[in-house]
Amino acid sequence: MPNKTDINTNTLPNHVAIIMDGNGRWAKQQSKIRVFGHKVGVTAVRDTVEGAAEIGLKYLTLYAFSSENWNRPKSEINALMELLVNTITKETKTLMNNNIRLVAIGNLDDLPKKCLNNLSLAIEKTSQNNKMTLVLALSYSSRKEIVQAIQQIAEKIKSGDMSMDDINEESVKNHLYTYNIPDPELLIRTSGELRISNFLMWQIAYSELYFTKILWPDFRRENLYEALLDFQSRERRFGKTSEQIEKENA
Ligand code: FPP
Repeated sequence: MPNKTDINTNTLPNHVAIIMDGNGRWAKQQSKIRVFGHKVGVTAVRDTVEGAAEIGLKYLTLYAFSSENWNRPKSEINALMELLVNTITKETKTLMNNNIRLVAIGNLDDLPKKCLNNLSLAIEKTSQNNKMTLVLALSYSSRKEIVQAIQQIAEKIKSGDMSMDDINEESVKNHLYTYNIPDPELLIRTSGELRISNFLMWQIAYSELYFTKILWPDFRRENLYEALLDFQSRERRFGKTSEQIEKENA
């Protein structure tokens, strides 16, 4: 397992996004119900968030609940929402102690009132923290995010606040939930699945992708370090040639 000191803190990604996957399978391996996997998953969340802030990441986004997750059995949805409410409330202290600001992206109006209230309180309470921003993706769908951006832009064109010539990559970005968050340079997915699952599809255009077979409840900061080391070994070309990049870095 890599150590914190193995990582070059001068070339860290600014923003890491994680698709936390494998809670259900982890629980099944332990002959427990799926919800148990989500509960243990909170330990992985805590350790990863603390590790990320400690090493110096500026943004960490966690995919906690997708729009598609509303199709799960009602009992699992209720348990997950309760877990989210309790965790957000209980962990606000951890966020304060670590100087972490909490924000959320997604169709937050879909969330139960209690969940939304507690989330809003934690967001408000941590709003002045500035070591790292923790972004929770809740009831999130990348396609829905892009559709609502198009709707907002169309409305502005209709009302004369924008013209067709104003539609460009910058203005589209400015209408996404992530308008004030830089794109992730690194996307991690746990559990061995090789999919994006409707997550940050606009924002990951140039992200490095890292897949690990570890199931989310087993994920710890050392696994994040492993992903960061892998990221630091890659050459990011953004469509240019290796020779051009070498010249630029010389
Ligand atoms: C994916 O595993 C995980 C989720 C849908 C929920 C993630 C939620 C947590 C870790 C709990 C709390 C989180 C926060 C941020 C407070 P899965 O259920 O899809 O697993 P499977 O693919 O093995 O079935």
